[in-house]
Amino acid sequence: MKHFKQISIIACLIFIAFIACQPNDKPEKESVDRKKEEAKTIDVSRYSGNINIDGKMVVKEVSEALMGALSDAIAKHGTAGAVEFCNGAAFPILDSLAEFYGVGLKRTSKRYRNYDNRPDTLDKAILDNLAALGDQGVEPSPVSMKFSNGDGIYYAPIMTKPLCLQCHGLKSRGDIADDVWRKIRELYPEDVAYDYNLNELRGVWGVYFPAEYRARKGKAEMPDIPR
Ligand code: HEC
Repeated sequence: MKHFKQISIIACLIFIAFIACQPNDKPEKESVDRKKEEAKTIDVSRYSGNINIDGKMVVKEVSEALMGALSDAIAKHGTAGAVEFCNGAAFPILDSLAEFYGVGLKRTSKRYRNYDNRPDTLDKAILDNLAALGDQGVEPSPVSMKFSNGDGIYYAPIMTKPLCLQCHGLKSRGDIADDVWRKIRELYPEDVAYDYNLNELRGVWGVYFPAEYRARKGKAEMPDIPR
């Protein structure tokens, strides 16, 4: 019986690892719609008060919303058109989700496309640390910290997936099509967010939890994500 228990635990772990490793760069339209429906009913009192748990939840919801909007934009307007979409829609989407969750939200990177996403001193230290771990072959994982005033911040690494390379990939390898490249240069003349490889650290999500977030209760209306 004991033996059986061990085997089922191992089987379970393998199964979890298998699920966790499934690429999710192309969320099905259906699952995006379902997610949106579910998100509408999110009760922010669901916050556990532990920023590692709550940060993980917020990053998951927000990155799925952004990913859904990006995939829709690519399907509707092509990749070059989606660059324009990201240019106008990324900040409004993030701002409305930040308001919904009652947190501060940012995506930042050492090699960024939009100057407004540039890292501050703390972001830089975190990014350097995660990159150094990556160089040693350690997979970057989330980091959180609490400040003396009770506020906290949760960082989660953003890794590149195949889809990302269309706009952030290696130029010399032809990852970025000519029309996409022209659009990027036109909208972001100072851009350095290209020449990334697959599974490379692209940046981090930063979720800033004000001390009073734990007291947040009640349902908020999920904002409409522009499509
Ligand atoms: C259609 C082109 C396109 C695709 C595909 C794309 N991005 Fe971007 N990405 C952009 C644009 C444009 C911006 C700048 C948005 C803005 O102005 O806020 C951006 C910004 C970012 C930023 C914020 C930091 C910065 O550089 O300004 C991160 C992080 C990021 N992308 C990661 C990813 C990841 C990860 C993927 C794949 C899941 C991805 N992107 C796919 C076009 C794209």
